[in-house]
Amino acid sequence: MNRPTIWISRRLSDATLDRASRDYDVILNDADTPGTADEIVAMSNRVDGMIPCHSEHFTADVVSRLDPRLKIVANHSVGVDHCDLPALRARGIAVTNTPDVLSDATAELAMMLMLCAARRAVTGDRIVRTGTWTSWSPSFLVGKQVSGARVGIVGMGRVGQAFARKARGFDMDVHYFNRQRLSPEAETGATYHETLDSLLSVSDFLSLHCPATPETDGMMNAERLARLPDGSVLVNTARGALVDEAALLGALESGRMLAAGLDCFREEPGGNPAFAAQENIVMMPHVGSATVRTRDAMGFRALDNLDAFFRGDRPRDLL
Ligand code: DGY
Repeated sequence: MNRPTIWISRRLSDATLDRASRDYDVILNDADTPGTADEIVAMSNRVDGMIPCHSEHFTADVVSRLDPRLKIVANHSVGVDHCDLPALRARGIAVTNTPDVLSDATAELAMMLMLCAARRAVTGDRIVRTGTWTSWSPSFLVGKQVSGARVGIVGMGRVGQAFARKARGFDMDVHYFNRQRLSPEAETGATYHETLDSLLSVSDFLSLHCPATPETDGMMNAERLARLPDGSVLVNTARGALVDEAALLGALESGRMLAAGLDCFREEPGGNPAFAAQENIVMMPHVGSATVRTRDAMGFRALDNLDAFFRGDRPRDLL
């Protein structure tokens, strides 16, 4: 095959774009706006491969309109809930993702959100920043101690395991629920729960690390949130669809749950405006993997997958 042409849907890291332009004819969406359905379809007869992000949606409708020239969608993300995988496979289009390389960065952000939520960082920052720190007292800005507390992890894949390693560094008592129990070496002392409900009942802190699927949609609903111990803290760096946001808001407003740390929302971009008035929610705009090192690694992993495919090999992360 001649030098393949690829579409890169967003402005990826400089190192990624340099390598891509060295090896491919690149059409780059330099405006860095999310690719619309019509743009994806229009681009599909100009390119052999695409590197989209989770902001480009390959719905069944979009996939049905793709030109046969497009052979591979090499996602720049580990999550692929923006892709209708059965529809893409039925069209014979290869799909890959970028696992492993973002686990530490995402787990790091989950730790940050957990600590900030527990120790009331949003309120503390505001008080100092606005010059309203006028007194100190033993009851001032008292939070919940993370060290030594029980943490429940839902989804013990790569990110869940990276989070568990970091939580152990804080002497946390790690519990988890996963479709399959890990080997003792991978468990490294974490306690396995056969049901989500069992995990919830011991989770003073709960961190979500499972993919968004029809089965996990709204998984953390009012009934499940009610199973958490009083004063618990929820952290979500996975996908907004996992959480019933109205139920979470209710539990936080009532004081039954202490706090939440959220990097993901049902509506993105934008988030949930109803959360804005809640000081006990720490929010970030879906930036779990946003470090220089990780963004380079994600771009390189997507390019590795493209390179293998166009060489005629099986891409490492073929889904
Ligand atoms: C992922 O890789 O799935 C992250 O959420 C960023 O897209």
